[in-house]
Amino acid sequence: MKTTVYTITSPQADDAYLLHAGEVLREGGLVVFPTETVYGLGGNATDAEAAKKIYAAKGRPSDNPLIIHIAEPQDARAYAVTSPLYDRLAAAFMPGPLTLILPKRESIPYSVTGGLDSVAVRCPAHPIAHALIAAAGVPIAAPSANLSGKPSPTCAAHVIDDLTGRVDIIIDGGSCDIGVESTILKIDGDRPILLRPGGITVEQLEAVCGPIEIADAVIGQLAPGERPLSPGMMYRHYAPTTPLTLVRGEREAVTAYLAARQAEGCAVLCYTEEAEYLSPQHCIVLGHRDDPHEQAQHLFDALRNADAFGAPHLYAHLPKETGMHLALCNRMLRAAAHSVIDI
Ligand code: TXA
Ligand code: MG
Repeated sequence: MKTTVYTITSPQADDAYLLHAGEVLREGGLVVFPTETVYGLGGNATDAEAAKKIYAAKGRPSDNPLIIHIAEPQDARAYAVTSPLYDRLAAAFMPGPLTLILPKRESIPYSVTGGLDSVAVRCPAHPIAHALIAAAGVPIAAPSANLSGKPSPTCAAHVIDDLTGRVDIIIDGGSCDIGVESTILKIDGDRPILLRPGGITVEQLEAVCGPIEIADAVIGQLAPGERPLSPGMMYRHYAPTTPLTLVRGEREAVTAYLAARQAEGCAVLCYTEEAEYLSPQHCIVLGHRDDPHEQAQHLFDALRNADAFGAPHLYAHLPKETGMHLALCNRMLRAAAHSVIDI
C-alpha cells in the first residue's frame, strides 16, 4: 500500500488535505492523525471492515477493543448509552485526554469493541483531530498508531517508522503535547473505575465524580491467566528490547546507583537535576523531577531510542503514584515488566 504523508500546521490553512483524509476514512481507508496525547491510527468506527484493517495494520490482537473518537461530547449519544455522570465528566474534561467506557449501541460493530457490550468514547482536543473527525462525518476508531507492543508514537517520525506501507495517509501535525495516552474511566457500572491513568488525574476526576476505584492492573501485576477489566492491560507494552529495571529509594541513593550502573556500561533514564552527576553517554534526560508533564512528553521517545545505546541493561527511577506521576509509573512498570529493585 502506498502511504501519503500530509504535513499540516493549522487545520484551516490546509482544509483540502483534511477533506481528502475525511473522504478516505468514509470509504473505509486508514488515516493516522495527531491528538493531544499520542498519534492515532484511524478508521471509520461504524464500519466492521475498517476495524479489521486497523488490527491488521497494527498487528494487534482483535480482542483488544478500540477507542472511538468523536467531534463533540454530545455525539456520544448515537454510539453509546450516556448518563448524567457522562454529562458531568464531559462538561469538565472534554474535549481533552479522557476516555469514558459506556454501554455500546448497535451503531458500533462488535469488531470495534473486541466483542464487548461496552464502547470507549473520547473527544480529542487537538484541532487537527477535531477537524478530521468533522470532515469524515463519522466517528473514528483509533488505537495508538504504533506497531503492537511498541511505545505509542508522539511525533510523525515514530509513525513513519512503524506504519509506512500499512496505512493510506499519515497526517504530520508535529509533536503531541501530553505524550502519554488518555486517562480511561469505566462508567458503565455501579461506580467509576480507573482503567488507565493519563493526562486527567485521579484527583481531578474525584473532584467531579467522588471516590473512584483504581483497577488492579494500573500498578499491580496480573496473575498468570488473569483477565483485566481493560483487555489492553494484558499485553506487553512500551518495552524496549533492552531489559529495563526501575529503582526505588532515596533520591541521592538512586542517583548514586544509576551512576554506578552507568560505569558498568548500562544506560539510564534520569531527571534534569541529576544529569550533572551522571555521564552524558548512555543517558536520556526525561525532564525535571517535579514536572511529570515534561517527563511524559519525552518518555515514549526515550523508550524508542534506548535500544540504540546497545547497552546490556537500562535503569530508571520508579515514579511516584500521585497526580500525573501515576501515568508515568503505570507506563514504566509495564515497560519494565514490573522489574523493580529497592535500594
Ligand atoms: O490517548 C489515547 O487514548 C489514544 C489516542 C489515539 O486517542 N488511543 C489509545 O488507544 O491509546 P489504544 O487502543 O492504544 O488503547 C486503548 C485502551 C486499550 O487498553 C483497550 O483495551 C482499552 O482502551 N479499551 C478500549 N475499549 C474498551 C472497553 N470497551 N472496555 C475496556 N477497555 C477498553
Ligand atoms: Mg496503544
